[in-house]
Amino acid sequence: MKKTIRDIDVSGQRVLLRVDYNVPMNAELKITDDTRITATLPTINYLINHGAKVIICSHLGRPNGQVDTKLSLRPILARLSKLLDKPISFCEDIFDKSTSELVEKMNNGDVLMLENIRFFPGEETNDEKLAKALANLADIFVFDAFATAHRKHASTYGVAKLVPTVAGFLVEQELKVFDKVLKDPDHPFVAILGGAKVSDKLPVIQNLLDKVDTILIGGGMAYTFIKSIGGNVGTSIVDNTKLELAKNILDEAKEKNVKILLPIDNIGAKEFSEESEIKRFNSGFFAEDYQGMDIGPKTIKAFKKIIKKAKTIVWNGPLGVYEYEKFKHGTNKIAKYVAKSKAISLIGGGDSIAAIHSIGVTKKVTHMSTGGGASLMLLQGKQLPCIELIQEK
Ligand code: 3PG
Repeated sequence: MKKTIRDIDVSGQRVLLRVDYNVPMNAELKITDDTRITATLPTINYLINHGAKVIICSHLGRPNGQVDTKLSLRPILARLSKLLDKPISFCEDIFDKSTSELVEKMNNGDVLMLENIRFFPGEETNDEKLAKALANLADIFVFDAFATAHRKHASTYGVAKLVPTVAGFLVEQELKVFDKVLKDPDHPFVAILGGAKVSDKLPVIQNLLDKVDTILIGGGMAYTFIKSIGGNVGTSIVDNTKLELAKNILDEAKEKNVKILLPIDNIGAKEFSEESEIKRFNSGFFAEDYQGMDIGPKTIKAFKKIIKKAKTIVWNGPLGVYEYEKFKHGTNKIAKYVAKSKAISLIGGGDSIAAIHSIGVTKKVTHMSTGGGASLMLLQGKQLPCIELIQEK
């Protein structure tokens, strides 16, 4: 079991808190979804209430080691300050003397935020100088950036090697749910996988074959599977380099008695557009000039039946082209059935989570992971490097 902030005395300590505030923003730099900010409030409030001096560090976007004012953390500071109902001071340059001076002047319960750590070229290369500069600001490192736990960067992995490191409550909660689902799931255990990128999901399926009873496959990734067994997918998205692996996985699933359900029917369109003419096809029998955009009604019905009986559900990735209103139907229906089921449900991936939010059933699912790449890595059976550096109890 990993140590958390509950296991140490934080009073009067300078606590460097790594969070992941890589949140979506619109062109006016307004935050469009603050889930990753609100998810860290229990940790921050605990630290404030227990007299820590809280120094918050995060990245935003991919500025590649350059200052990019559009990716400043200032709008996030404003939102966090409002949520905490507390002023937060801001430091632009952690190498500047003024930053350590400001930290020295902090009182117990004060909060300070550092500017986007990816403005420094050493962040993504895990530069020792940058990691040391961060470590010098802190007595304790609290890692609560679950969504960045797969990155060996200076403000994650680098600092954790230099300063005693414990987990925040968000990381604790994420690990608890992933542990339960991957190590001790209640059966029937159903995985629902979608999204366009089949290469990310094949290792997930390989890892889950020893754990789940059924895998439901939709989204763009399904067409590689359908083609791998000789189906005609028209102009649907296919990863031709993965056909053999997809076929082998289907064979392995059969040997292991795991049911893999591919779509029975699909909604196809002539163009990759909402305005295009659409038609329903039985899967594997597409017209040559049509591509798959969503799962069809027969598939939705079949998936519903399986979801209803599940005791554990893991869902990652949309079942159709979620950026288009017209092709959200399958994903939203599945979101409804997952929310209705009594299963322990773990949902990851931006579009699956957006579907849950959009139909207003957020409270009905067990856990929505804040991690994209990090949660995929866990589902693939890999360890997260930053989590490994958190002290054990
Ligand atoms: C994420 O959004 O998945 C994390 O913030 C990691 O971002 P990255 O893929 O740019 O490292």
